[in-house]
Amino acid sequence: MNDSQLTSLVKDMTLHEKVGQLVQLATPFFKGASDKGQITGPMQEMGLSHEDIENTGSVLGASGAKETIAIQRKHLEDNRLGIPLLFMSDIVHGFRTIFPVPLAIGCSWDLDLAEKSAALAAKEAAVSGGHVTFAPMVDLSREPRWGRGMESTGEDTYLNSGFARSFVRGFQGDLQQDAYKVASCVKHFAAYGAPEGGRDYNTVDMSEWMLRESYLPAYKAALDEGCEMVMTAFNILNGIPSTGNKWLMRNLLRDEWNFDGVLISDWGAVKELLPHGVAQDEKEAALKTLRAGVDIEMMTSYYFKYTSELVEEGLLEESTIDEAVLRILRLKNKLGLFENPYREADETDEKTFILAPEHRNVARELAAKSVVLLKNEQALPLNNNNNIALVGPFANNTDILGPWSWGGSAEDTITLDTGMKHRLNTDHLLIAEGSGIETGTEQQLQEALQTASRADVIVAALGEHSDMSGEAGSRADIRLPEIQLELLKQLKSLGKPVIAVLFNGRPLDVREVIEHADAVLEAWYPGTEGGNAVADILFGDVNPSGKLSMSFPHSVGQVPVYYNQFNTGRPKDAPDAQIRFVSQYLDIPNEALFPFGYGLSYSTYHYSEMSLSTDHITPDEKLTVKVNVTNTSETSGEETVQLYIRDLVGDVVRPLKELKDFKKVTLKPGETTTVEFTIEESQLRYYHADLDYKSDAGEFEVFVGPNSRDIQSRKFKLGNV
Ligand code: NOJ
Repeated sequence: MNDSQLTSLVKDMTLHEKVGQLVQLATPFFKGASDKGQITGPMQEMGLSHEDIENTGSVLGASGAKETIAIQRKHLEDNRLGIPLLFMSDIVHGFRTIFPVPLAIGCSWDLDLAEKSAALAAKEAAVSGGHVTFAPMVDLSREPRWGRGMESTGEDTYLNSGFARSFVRGFQGDLQQDAYKVASCVKHFAAYGAPEGGRDYNTVDMSEWMLRESYLPAYKAALDEGCEMVMTAFNILNGIPSTGNKWLMRNLLRDEWNFDGVLISDWGAVKELLPHGVAQDEKEAALKTLRAGVDIEMMTSYYFKYTSELVEEGLLEESTIDEAVLRILRLKNKLGLFENPYREADETDEKTFILAPEHRNVARELAAKSVVLLKNEQALPLNNNNNIALVGPFANNTDILGPWSWGGSAEDTITLDTGMKHRLNTDHLLIAEGSGIETGTEQQLQEALQTASRADVIVAALGEHSDMSGEAGSRADIRLPEIQLELLKQLKSLGKPVIAVLFNGRPLDVREVIEHADAVLEAWYPGTEGGNAVADILFGDVNPSGKLSMSFPHSVGQVPVYYNQFNTGRPKDAPDAQIRFVSQYLDIPNEALFPFGYGLSYSTYHYSEMSLSTDHITPDEKLTVKVNVTNTSETSGEETVQLYIRDLVGDVVRPLKELKDFKKVTLKPGETTTVEFTIEESQLRYYHADLDYKSDAGEFEVFVGPNSRDIQSRKFKLGNV
C-alpha cells in the first residue's frame, strides 16, 4: 500500500476500530492460539468483548509458525477491514538459540558479532512468525543491585550506543529489503536503569543534563539506526511516570528527535499511573498516556474503555488517535503484512533454521568472547591430563540461559559438565554438586569434599539462579549466597588449585571468591552453548578476551561505582589532599574492585609509550594517537585497546575519563602491532550548563590502555589556547 491508501484506510475505520489498533493483548486472547487458557475470565476482568479482540491491533508473545499463522488467519476472517495483526515478543538475546545475556555481550566489546547474533535471533523469530522484537534494551546502568542490568550492555554511554546500533542493524536491517528481519523496539524510555537503591520500578530522579549526557545517547543511537519502535519505562522520571510524560514523549522523542515510529507502553504501565498517583481514575490514566503520545497500550484495556468517551467529551482530538493509528499501519505496511500477513512464518524453515549449526557456532563464539577472566594465579588453562573435580550447583545446570530466554529450552542447553566431557577423558572428570544455589546439606558438602580430594585441580561452578536477576530481581546483598561461599572456602582448604566459574546476571561483590580461588572466570549467563564456550576457555582452546562493561564494586556500600565519575572538590589522590577531609570511605577504597574495561587473558601484552601526532589541534584538525602493543607471551590472543579522554576544565564538571574509542587486535606470540586512534573536535563535545552540546577550547588529557584503570596519559589542546 502507499501512504495515501493507508490514510484512506484510517478514514474508513470507525473510532472503535481505530482504538483497537492501539491495543496489544497476550496470545491466549486470540482465536487460533495454541494455549487459550482461561481467557474468558481475564476478558471479563478487563471488560473486553469479542468485538474488541477482533479489532485489536497486535499480539504479545505468540510464537511458532503454526500458531502465528492460525491466529492471523482467524483474525483476518473476523476483522471487518482485513487489517493484519502485528506479532511482537521479547527476543532479547536469542529466540531458541540463546546467545549470552546482553551484559555478557557487552563484555565481548565485539560489535560485529553482536550484530550477527541479533541477525540470527531475528531469523529464528521471523520464520516463527514474529514481526517485532522488544529489543534492544539499552538502559545504561551503574546499579548492580538492579536485576535488569543483565539485559543492558553496561555502564558506558559510548559502548552502549555502539551495541544499540549493532543490535538494531542485526534485528531489523532493512525491513523492506532484507529477508528474515524483525522490527526493533528500543526500551525502556527513559533512564529505567537508574532506579533509586537499585530497586526495580523505583524512582528515577536526575538532572536533564545528566540524562542527556549519559542516559539518552544509546536510545538515540538506536533510533538513528532506524529502530522502528520505542517502549516506555515503568519508572517516574523527575516526578512524572515515563508512560505519561509529555515532555519526554512529545517534546523530546517526537519533536526534538523527530521519531515518527510507534511508541508502546510497557506491560500494564498505563494502569500504573494510578498507583503512581498521577491519575485519579482509569479514564485520566488513558487521557494522560494518549496525550503523551503513547500509541499502543500493552496488556490493559483503558484505551478500549475510555477513548471514545474522551473524544466525545472533547478532551482528546480524534486526530491524535488517527496519527497513532497511521503510525501503526505504516509499520504493518513496512513489514509487508497487507500483501503477505504471514510474512516469513514457515514450519519448514523453522526446522531448517532454528538451532542450526551456524547459530550454535555463533552462540559459542560469542559466549567465549563474553567470559571475563578476573583472576589467574597460573591456575588456567587446565591441563586435560589432570584429574579435575567439577563441583558446585552449576556443574550440571541448564539454568544458564538467563532470565529473558523464554524461547530457549533446557534440552538444547550445553551444561558445563557436558562441555568439559567433550574435551576430557571422562575418567578424569569427577563431578559433585556440593550445594544448591541457596541451600545445601552437610552430606552434599562432604561428598563434594571427598570427590575434590581425589582430584589435582578443582573447578567450582557457582552463581545465581536466573530468578535472582532480571525483572523484579533486585538484590541488596550482591554476594554469592552464603552456602556457596562456604563450599568454596572448604574446597580451598583442600590445598589444591581452585578455579571459580561464575554464572550470574549482575556484577557481584566477589571479594570472598577472589580470596578463596586461584582463578576466577565470570561466565555470566552464557546461553545455549554455554558449557562448550566455558570449556573452550578453561582448556585454553579459546584465550579469554572479555573486558568488563560494568564495574565490579569492592562492596555494595560503594554502589553506584563507575569509571567515568567526577573528581569532586576534594579528590582523595590530589597532591595536596588531607588525610581526612577528602572524598573517601573510611573503611573501603573508593575504586571498584574490578573496573570498567578490565579483563585478563592467557597472554600478556606490553603497551609502548603512546605518541601524539601533535599536541594542539584546531576544530578542523585531527590528532592521531599511536601505541605499539606487543604480545609478550607464548599464546596468541585478542586485546581490546581502549582510548579515554578527559576535558580538564569545562563549563560544567567533566568525568575523570570517558571512553571515546577502542580497537581489537589479534596478536601472535611476540607480535607487535601499532594501534592508531584519531581524535577530532566532535568527540570533545558535551552538554554545557545551558544544555548546549559543544566543545570548548582548552586542555585535554588522552589515555590509552587495556582497561579504564591501567592507563597512560598525554595532554593536548583544542583551539587557540
Ligand atoms: C515487561 C518488561 O519490562 C519489558 O521489557 C518487556 O518487553 C515487556 N514486559 C513485554 O514482555
